[in-house]
Amino acid sequence: TWTTGNVIEEQVEAIRELVGDKRAICGLSGGVDSAVAAALVQKAIGSQLTCVYVDHGLMRKDETEQVEKDFVAATGVQLKVVDAEERFLKALAGVSDPEEKRKIIGREFIRVFEQAQAEIIADEGPAVEFLVQGTLYPDVVESGGGTGTANIKSHHNVGGLPEDLEFKLIEPLRKLFKDEVRMVGQELGLPEEIVQRQPFPGPGLGIRIVGEVTKERLDLLREADAIAREELTAAGLDRDIWQCPVVLLADVRSVGVQGDGRTYGHPIVLRPVSSEDAMTADWSRLPYDVLAKISTRITNEVSDVNRVVLDVTSKPPGTIEWE
Ligand code: XMP
Repeated sequence: TWTTGNVIEEQVEAIRELVGDKRAICGLSGGVDSAVAAALVQKAIGSQLTCVYVDHGLMRKDETEQVEKDFVAATGVQLKVVDAEERFLKALAGVSDPEEKRKIIGREFIRVFEQAQAEIIADEGPAVEFLVQGTLYPDVVESGGGTGTANIKSHHNVGGLPEDLEFKLIEPLRKLFKDEVRMVGQELGLPEEIVQRQPFPGPGLGIRIVGEVTKERLDLLREADAIAREELTAAGLDRDIWQCPVVLLADVRSVGVQGDGRTYGHPIVLRPVSSEDAMTADWSRLPYDVLAKISTRITNEVSDVNRVVLDVTSKPPGTIEWE
């Protein structure tokens, strides 16, 4: 019978045998899958694993700290953090086109990751022969299934690394579904904030700012997003929704009034969706009082935002993310 204990034991044994006395590396994205995959491999081979976390500056509030501190504390993993915020901001300067942004973020990510990888390989020690990936069962089916779905957006994942690499892959989650991965993560003692995290795109907040990505706009969006997440959690709605992107319409301004003055600020869009697999989705019918609370708090607490709007579009025709 299937238990998380069995899965862990089985994988740990298999990974030990496979890796022997060689080394492995793993890219952490802040998401559930890469975190659980890394924790499993860490349990199997300890210090023979090194994780790499590229901080592209496009993460949500507190997410980088959760990886740097809480994940490391829970697993004891060796982690190399690369602070690449400036590099990403520079590369994104002046760019508003969504696909262009995705390409730039994906390209920079690979460059930074490769550099970190080269440094790890150059360190003294056994050969680095393995790359750990958090591939899930649905990913396996989707990529091999040939269902003929059109490539609508160029998805970027930590997994989407260069093809010319000579690594052997370790994919300990290949047979698992998302809820099973969460159970395994919990059993491994990972922080709740990571195990229960909702899907978040690889390009991060970079594709949730409609318009150019700047540090100032990212900080503003981080605040609004943190408020929305806080209120959804407080209302006990985390498990009812698939995810809730919060989007900044940086190129739009509207007139408002606050205190005794006219304002001319940006709208924030709430995009709560329900879904089984992200291929299709419906907009979540969130309680009005929760929406009201989020709206009041965002307009009061986030400067330069004077309007909150709700996206009531299903997928299709709308995608979940705005870019
Ligand atoms: P869309 O916007 O295509 O999103 O309806 C479907 C799901 O995929 C997530 N998403 C991404 N995830 N890299 C990822 O790892 C990406 O580039 C990316 N783009 C979108 C999105 O959050 C949703 O869950």
